[in-house]
Amino acid sequence: MTQELTTSLQAGPARSPEGTGWWRDAVIYQVYVRSFADSDGDGVGDLRGARERLPHLARLGVDAVWLTPFYASPQADGGYDVADYRAVDPLFGTLQDADDLVRTAHELGLRVIVDVVPNHTSDRHPWFLDALADRPRGAARERYHFRPGRGTGGELPPNDWESVFGGPAWTRTTGPDGTPGEWYLHLFAPEQPDLNWDCPEVREEFDSVLRFWLDLGVDGFRIDVAHGMVKAPGLPDIGRTEQAKLIGSQVLPFFDQDGVHEIHRGWRRLLDSYPGMRIGVAEAWAPSAERLALYVRPDELHQAFNFQFLKCPWDAAAMREVIDESLAATASVGAPTTWVLSNHDVVRHTTRYAEDGAGQGLRRARAAALLTLALPGSAYLYQGEELGLPEVVDLPDEARQDPAFFRTSADGQDGQDGQEGRRDGCRVPLPWSRSGPSYGFGPGGSWLPQPDGWADASVEAQTGDPESTLELYRAALALRRELPGLGDGPMSWLPAPAGVLALSRPGLVCTLNTLGEEVRLPLPGRALLSSAPLAYDAGTVRIPAESCAWWAI
Ligand code: GLC
Repeated sequence: MTQELTTSLQAGPARSPEGTGWWRDAVIYQVYVRSFADSDGDGVGDLRGARERLPHLARLGVDAVWLTPFYASPQADGGYDVADYRAVDPLFGTLQDADDLVRTAHELGLRVIVDVVPNHTSDRHPWFLDALADRPRGAARERYHFRPGRGTGGELPPNDWESVFGGPAWTRTTGPDGTPGEWYLHLFAPEQPDLNWDCPEVREEFDSVLRFWLDLGVDGFRIDVAHGMVKAPGLPDIGRTEQAKLIGSQVLPFFDQDGVHEIHRGWRRLLDSYPGMRIGVAEAWAPSAERLALYVRPDELHQAFNFQFLKCPWDAAAMREVIDESLAATASVGAPTTWVLSNHDVVRHTTRYAEDGAGQGLRRARAAALLTLALPGSAYLYQGEELGLPEVVDLPDEARQDPAFFRTSADGQDGQDGQEGRRDGCRVPLPWSRSGPSYGFGPGGSWLPQPDGWADASVEAQTGDPESTLELYRAALALRRELPGLGDGPMSWLPAPAGVLALSRPGLVCTLNTLGEEVRLPLPGRALLSSAPLAYDAGTVRIPAESCAWWAI
């Protein structure tokens, strides 16, 4: 245990008292385990490394951590291909390490959410191996979606569905004698066969998996592809290509089917049967804020990631619209809204916002952080955003490991900035110190190369520098704990010039200038915090371009 860890053990408990629903305004920090901290020098982050760095998170001022999958897995998709849901992959440590991490986090006042991956298993999961060994329509195949192919010899996929990672969503099996057989469905990589949630055994197994981790003490689950488990009866064709572009804008026969809600209701009952307010958060790509709100009805999950906010461009009117829609939709079911700017699947927002160079990206990212933390509800932070880290856009192809990269880049399906669908660039291991073989990530190297200049972005370099992004986040999170008007609660808009948002929370005003030039406003109150230096003239304040400030009133 590090010195820092021992001293921080006295840190207070998370802010919301029991009884009010801690998740309703929690700030939850996403730890992408393989890139957070490496304890053994193999270049891959692990649970011990994460545990040793928990004091950074306690000091940052977050309420909870979400750990991405650390389960036994062949790592075909960064661990989102699970071969044993109750075991820790040796790459990441042992079950004891998981137990130690949860205990230490609790001692530090941090709650712990773990990922659960129920839409698909690994193709090395014993169930799938049994299924492959079984005959067509055999019982072991019932747990997945096996179908005969179309065409005279069954040589065509059973339907026209496409994998989210590109290419067909079906792969044909080969019998022991080498003859081609049935096809199986995988909405993601071929190494991730989709489970059949109509099979009662699948449901029972996941209840048992959830209980396993709840018994170990976790505070909840981030539910991977929570919108995908149920497929439309008969697996109907979609009738068009480039289906990935429809995700999040339309109900598809494989995404956001109404049947998923019954599964989530069952899980809610299971979560509620445990003491201590365990939560479920849905990774659900739903076509509208209204459909997303269905996942957080009172008898379903506690939270759902608000990807509409994440996808919103840097534009005051668009931001205001998304904020209003998100708040209205969640209010209609009595749930808190979540706000998220980045995660391990998308281009980091510092880079997304940079239309005019890195300086602009960081300026906007700092402002967006203050806006996000001033909005009502809960916020998710992705590791490294507190350091203002950009996407690493120039990783050599040989270093890349993301299956999405290999399945989409061949046909040139790049996004608008050339990085979409290339998820390694946001997964580069964190810099903790100015020096060391991997800037303090671990005693060895790093599974993805860290860029030159990572030293200046490190936690060590930013600590104590009042202008650093790390200190901005620390100050914002400290204020969020102190000021009762932040977090869950009412919000209203104040009049503001075009391009500026001014929102009012009890005792506080937040002003965001999205414009490329400074704006002058009547002094809203006493400045608490700002993402860029403010200047005052006779009762007015000049808010710099692309900046955000908090005011006490
Ligand atoms: C989710 C995860 C992503 C993964 C996919 C398949 O979208 O966030 O990383 O590739 O599910 O499990």
